Amino acid sequence: MKIAVAGTGYVGLSVALLLSQHNEVHALDIVPEKVETLNEGKSPIVDKEITEFLEGNVSGARPLNFQATLDPRQAYIGADYAVVATPTNYDPHKNYFDTSSVEAAIAAIREVNPTAWIVIKSTIPVGYTSDLRGKLQDERLLFSPEFLREGHALYDNLHPSRIVVGAPEDDAEAHHAAEVFADLLVQGAAEGEMKRINADGGTGIPRLIVGLTEAEAVKLFANTYLALRVAFFNELDTYAETRELRTQEIIDGVCLDPRIRADYNNPSFGYGGYCLPKDTKQLLANYDQVPQNLISGIVNANRTRKDFIATEIERRISEIDNPTVGIYRLTMKSGSDNFRQSAVQGVMKRIKARGITVVVYEPTMNDPEFFGSEVTHDLEDFKRRSDVIVANRWNRDLDDVSGKVFSRDLFKRD
Ligand SMILES: NC(=O)c1ccc[n+]([C@@H]2O[C@H](COP(=O)([O-])OP(=O)(O)OC[C@H]3O[C@@H](n4cnc5c(N)ncnc54)[C@H](O)[C@@H]3O)[C@@H](O)[C@H]2O)c1
Repeated sequence: MKIAVAGTGYVGLSVALLLSQHNEVHALDIVPEKVETLNEGKSPIVDKEITEFLEGNVSGARPLNFQATLDPRQAYIGADYAVVATPTNYDPHKNYFDTSSVEAAIAAIREVNPTAWIVIKSTIPVGYTSDLRGKLQDERLLFSPEFLREGHALYDNLHPSRIVVGAPEDDAEAHHAAEVFADLLVQGAAEGEMKRINADGGTGIPRLIVGLTEAEAVKLFANTYLALRVAFFNELDTYAETRELRTQEIIDGVCLDPRIRADYNNPSFGYGGYCLPKDTKQLLANYDQVPQNLISGIVNANRTRKDFIATEIERRISEIDNPTVGIYRLTMKSGSDNFRQSAVQGVMKRIKARGITVVVYEPTMNDPEFFGSEVTHDLEDFKRRSDVIVANRWNRDLDDVSGKVFSRDLFKRD
């Protein structure tokens, strides 16, 4: 089968490589350097499995049938399926996702291919695909939510928690096309996944074909639940810090309940990254005219947490003349190369607004400044100059200056 993928970021590239084990895949991007890097067999992002796949370094794996391109005709003509994985940033003026790149990709596909099934993998507002089907008079649009984590993008597609594809319930042809697409994703998964035993006792990869709008809701509600969980343990930590209690003892005691569990409970400066901040805001926007308390609570909790963290940092330097605050890494998680919407940036913004000097240690950044603050690659100099070192996530680099470090990474893991 010929499959086109629009966008070679975390989502597009991992889906493209997964599918290229059994299909002819052409991945299109609008950034020439990305396409060039990919066609040299190198990964533009830090991701172990993507790098290994591109280098042909996976033992026993099938050769990939993968090509990156800038040419819409090469990618889209003759494709049976076209997957759209372009950005949907949150537009603060419209209070909604900016879906223009999804629409641009769909227009480019349709210009040369009127019949391909287009599967939107970008995260979109609830109700979007159904509206677009009506607006474009195009019945060959499907939506499949993507659940990968950055840094484990291909791994999460090789070992998917579940595969969900949305199609209108009353459209048998679209339903069949959704089934076929789900089968393609299952086919690309790692050997052994079909035999795995799931927490509910079922075997194999759970595979759900649901309504189009329900599939969109699955994505936004799943991410908003994750944000809720982060916000909950952060707010627990804010309480414990304020009342001078040991957070870790409370979390250990709470999480031994098997209904609560001990994962995803490590305090931080807030939930962040590309998806959780924007997806929670989009879900809140979708609640327009629908009663709710929790969703706005989750969005507000993240702001309150960053205010609290900034105030705590300020308290620590209140007795120092002309203090310097060091920001250790701009990334959201350890092992990530990405600092889109990382929580530490929100904290940094608040500290700077209070007139405090900030220096940033970020070895992956080549610019000498970040929002007007100096960026250094010299770790020892950074440690010497910083009166307090702010680290969303701990790293062994900081062991020798632990007395200076402000972090809420209590479990020393993501
Ligand atoms: N990153 C994640 O962890 C993640 C997880 C699940 C879902 N998502 C969603 O998937 C979508 C993509 O996210 P991402 O992290 O892969 O983004 P990304 O920014 O890493 O990659 C997007 C790519 O699309 C390209 N692009 C932009 N316009 C294009 C066009 N018209 N045609 C072809 N390519 C185009 C960009 O050059 C870029 O390479 C977003 O909607 C995001 O919310 C992301």
